[in-house]
Amino acid sequence: MRVERWIEAALDGEYGEGLRIASRMLVAIGEAFEADRLIPVRSCHISGVSYRTIGEPGLRFLEDLASSGVKARVKATMNPAGMDMSKWAEMGVPENFAQKQFKIVKALESMGIEPTLTCTPYLAGNSPDVGSHLAWAESSAVIYVNSVLGAMTNRESGPSALASALTGLTPRFGMHVNECRRPTHLVEVEGNIEGALMFSALGYLVGREVGRGVPSIPSVRGASGDELKALSAGLGTSGGVSMFTYKTQRGLPRIKVHTRELLNIIEKLSTGSGGVVCLGCPHLSLAEVRYVLELLKGRRVRGTLWLFTSRAVYRRASSKGLVQALERLGVRVFKDTCMVVAPLEDMGVKSIVTDSCKAAHYVKLITGGRVQVSLMSREECIKEAIEREA
Ligand code: F3S
Repeated sequence: MRVERWIEAALDGEYGEGLRIASRMLVAIGEAFEADRLIPVRSCHISGVSYRTIGEPGLRFLEDLASSGVKARVKATMNPAGMDMSKWAEMGVPENFAQKQFKIVKALESMGIEPTLTCTPYLAGNSPDVGSHLAWAESSAVIYVNSVLGAMTNRESGPSALASALTGLTPRFGMHVNECRRPTHLVEVEGNIEGALMFSALGYLVGREVGRGVPSIPSVRGASGDELKALSAGLGTSGGVSMFTYKTQRGLPRIKVHTRELLNIIEKLSTGSGGVVCLGCPHLSLAEVRYVLELLKGRRVRGTLWLFTSRAVYRRASSKGLVQALERLGVRVFKDTCMVVAPLEDMGVKSIVTDSCKAAHYVKLITGGRVQVSLMSREECIKEAIEREA
């Protein structure tokens, strides 16, 4: 693999320990995937921000890297943390966890990473142009920007996206190469699919079938941005998909999907009934926050309803009075975190209700089944929160 002179010098430690580690990581990845060279990226998105997911070793790694004085060379944003950075006590997050979480965000900020703390950076000021090369982690965001916005990024890990932020470079292979973005399977959907739950189930099923392929799903052309956001999250959960496309070509293997199969997936992922109603995986858009308020029709929730969004959307929703109106009805609106990366068990949560197959999959996995999940459509989730005491 060809590398620039300054990267060779960085590999020799001429620019300090931080850049030596970052360049070594990118060169090793590039060689493993037979990249021909390193290319400049326009922006990076870094995952592995929650103390819940990276723990003590992750915190130490970030603090050591930050202490070398290395800084991001391109725009770089952060995935959600394990708590709302200002309302963590209201969420029931333990003090010890909060202190560790503050340190992680501080280490990343000192390297110049913006504390956007969202998995929807494209709704929070990091919206890439068509054809721009990126190094993004967070599979739901990767699939969305590759497929819906036409940007080009591989599915990076937290450390590799950070290494790209610090060097401004990424190895050129996979989704950075046009030939690798051609469809490998044609998905034919029978029946009508609508709403976040069904789109996330469709993604979950297709991701499982195509592995690392590029599914062509012409029937989702015309779906809303929020539905495609849910589809992207589902696709990234059950397989190694990096993008979907609407384009098709002759001779592709076909995958037929019937709504019945999606209902089966939803049933299989549901392990409980009732609990804290959690919406916002991926983080809610402004339109979705407004829709929740509309569905409530002025009725107060008897149960517990938590919404998760980015601080960017939270600010906009607050300025329009939406957050205040929701809170008057007993809804809690949190930013910076989500039901998957927050320490639910330590917060006393035993079961949740949600409309995201991704959240159902990971809550089950991360908590080892200690937190039960039931899946319902968004409309049913709101009904549940209004009618059932938590
Ligand atoms: Fe986002 Fe958390 Fe879901 S990071 S995609 S809301 S698991």
